Amino acid sequence: MQDKDLQVDKVGMIYKLPDGGSVEALKDVSFELETGRILTLLGPSGCGKTTLLNILAGFLAPTSGEAKLDNRRIEGPGQDRGMVFQQGALFEWLSVAENVGFGLNMNVDSREQTIRFLRNLLFIVVYLVMAAISVGIMVSIMAQIVQIGPLAQRPLINNLAFVYIVGVIISLAILRYAIPPVRDWMRSNLKTEKEREFRGIVDGYLDTVGLGGFGDKAVYELSGGMQQRVALARCLANDPDVILMDEPLGALDALTREKMQGLILKLWNETGKTIILVTHSVEEALYLGDRLFVMAPRPGRIEREYDLPFAKQGLTADARELKTSPEFIEKREEILSLIWEMEEQIMGHAGEA
Ligand SMILES: Nc1ncnc2c1ncn2[C@@H]1O[C@H](COP(=O)(O)OP(=O)(O)O)[C@@H](O)[C@H]1O
Ligand SMILES: [Mg+2]
Repeated sequence: MQDKDLQVDKVGMIYKLPDGGSVEALKDVSFELETGRILTLLGPSGCGKTTLLNILAGFLAPTSGEAKLDNRRIEGPGQDRGMVFQQGALFEWLSVAENVGFGLNMNVDSREQTIRFLRNLLFIVVYLVMAAISVGIMVSIMAQIVQIGPLAQRPLINNLAFVYIVGVIISLAILRYAIPPVRDWMRSNLKTEKEREFRGIVDGYLDTVGLGGFGDKAVYELSGGMQQRVALARCLANDPDVILMDEPLGALDALTREKMQGLILKLWNETGKTIILVTHSVEEALYLGDRLFVMAPRPGRIEREYDLPFAKQGLTADARELKTSPEFIEKREEILSLIWEMEEQIMGHAGEA
């Protein structure tokens, strides 16, 4: 066996519930995954997919069995594994580039931190001076209008408190549009050397996920698909051996989802990383997985395994053609009927209970 293989040996997870009961989220899950493969996990809600990923990420310790990466037992989170969540895992208050470079930026020395602190202080001072000037100008303009203009006779408007409030509101609106250019200027002109170097690396990863030039945008300015690209870039920037993705495309519309599937295949091919991806979609699991596990619930387990050709074919073939090919449709129907059987068993048991 090669190095860096992932080995999962009889992993079980029993959650204790507050009422004294327990849930067997995983039972006797065993598999090996060679480096550089892309495995998809498919199964109904509650079959333990997220639990399994969390164990592999090191966020949870299994209650029995063990998982090993590169022959070392997984005992906590580590740089060798990266996680991409369904959505909402970006830092909203940081720019796109700061999100991607988050892991990289952690080892900035104290001189750099001082420079950054002074830069932020300068920004706040500039902002306050601009605010004071702008409010002053606005209030005096308003006062002029009220004194000499046609509005001078109106009692409400001829009231200094009113003039002041409107002046402040208008100034704030002006500042709302003045802040981003000032901030961007400060970001690009007052960078430390190390930040410039980081930025080069970060921009490289943004290019990889098709977001070149978006580094200075705020997270909320991006669509859902673009945010997932940022999450992917952030994960890649930490250079993990294994990328774990928990329904990363689940919240996207159908078209964006297809595009992102293509991107994941491209990244898989270009980086040679091991990927484990959870999905609810049979089509997605077939298209992206060169291995696929269908999981079943109660207790969560691997019900059936497949080795598939489609992910490799998808690197060159047209996605729609591949997904409508007879071989693909045959596998899709096979897996769908397996899932239906499982659902019926569950419903049957529920009926008996
Ligand atoms: N923290 C927890 N405490 C108790 N039960 C949990 C907890 N997390 C998950 N479970 C239960 O474990 C089972 C598997 O959950 P999960 O791994 O989230 O499944 P999936 O991701 O496949 O939907 C479910 O029955 C779920 O209710
Ligand atoms: Mg889940």
